[in-house]
Amino acid sequence: MLNIPVILGSVREGRLSDGPAKLIVEKIKAAGYESQLVDFKVLPLPFFDSPLVPVALKGKYPHENVQKWSQIARAADALVLIASEYNHGYTAVLKNALDWLYLEFEKKPFGLVGVSDGRMGGIRATEQLRPVIENFGAVAIRETILFSEADKILDAQCNLLDASYDGKINRFIKSLVWWAETLKAKR
Ligand SMILES: Cc1cc2nc3c(=O)[nH]c(=O)nc-3n(C[C@H](O)[C@H](O)[C@H](O)COP(=O)(O)O)c2cc1C
Repeated sequence: MLNIPVILGSVREGRLSDGPAKLIVEKIKAAGYESQLVDFKVLPLPFFDSPLVPVALKGKYPHENVQKWSQIARAADALVLIASEYNHGYTAVLKNALDWLYLEFEKKPFGLVGVSDGRMGGIRATEQLRPVIENFGAVAIRETILFSEADKILDAQCNLLDASYDGKINRFIKSLVWWAETLKAKR
């Protein structure tokens, strides 16, 4: 069974992006795949402080939580990044998490989900992630979900208030699964 963790890039009190993240986890599971929420509030990572680049660490990380994050990423067949938009970019928390690892991501597909409370839906954050993902020898799939005015799309119980997101999320998961199966067969 494919394993597709969902990586939540915000640790802010009252963050809006945990609703979309939890919803995507549930949708992946409902489609018949394994998923889990990776929340750096629960699994805090230190700022990258290694004298060696990640490849040179050969999977032996100097912090327990980084080791756990590495295990989650290594076991993933695809990853979903939930990218809240901060100052026209994605969050430092997400960049730090990506910087800690490298080979864990190679030849895997990434699905991007943007979140903002404004009209742009985090598209500037998701687009800035594409070249970063490319650097891992990984693929960012074309289908992207943008939660613009995220507080109006989901209620507090993660129910969709905008039914058009059902189809968007289903198409996103279908594409991510296609890429995951295709790349897994070749890896
Ligand atoms: C430091 C900071 C910078 C922000 N910059 C932008 C921005 O450039 N564009 C935008 O659309 N929203 C911006 N916002 C609004 C966020 O998109 C909104 O607060 C969203 O809910 C953030 O995701 P989070 O709640 O998961 O942290 C910013 C929010 C913060 C806290």
